[in-house]
Amino acid sequence: MYREHILSHYKEPQHFGSLQHATHHAHSFNPLCGDDLTMELLVKKQQVEDVRFSGKGCAISMAAASMLTEIVVGKTIDQLKKLTKDDIFKLLDIPLSPGRIKCALLCLETLHKAAYGEQSKGDKGEHHDV
Ligand code: FES
Repeated sequence: MYREHILSHYKEPQHFGSLQHATHHAHSFNPLCGDDLTMELLVKKQQVEDVRFSGKGCAISMAAASMLTEIVVGKTIDQLKKLTKDDIFKLLDIPLSPGRIKCALLCLETLHKAAYGEQSKGDKGEHHDV
C-alpha cells in the first residue's frame, strides 16, 4: 500500500525516543484518530544539535516524523519555522488523499510549536489539539 521508504521509516523510525536535556518540546494530539506526537529539540546558539520524537500513529504520521527529524539537525530555529507543508510532501514523495494530509502534517505542526518557543520545563503533559 505504501512505498518502501515510508514503510522502512515506519518500522525503524529515526530519532525515536526522548532527549534528556531538551531545550524545546511540543506535543500534538489528533482527536479524530487518537494519534499523538511529541518532538524534543536540543538547541544551542539557535541551532538544532539533536532531536527526538515519540508517540503513536499511523504509518504516514510516523514516517513523516522520522523523515522530518533527519533534516532538522544543524538547522537554525528560523530555518525550522520556514519549513512548509510542501517540504513534508516532498519528503514523503507519495500522493496523499485529503484524509491523509493531516497525518503527514502532524509532525510539522509539532515541530513548529517547539520552534516557536514551547520550552521544556519538565511538564510534558499539555495537550494541543490539531
Ligand atoms: Fe491519525 Fe494518521 S490516522 S495521524
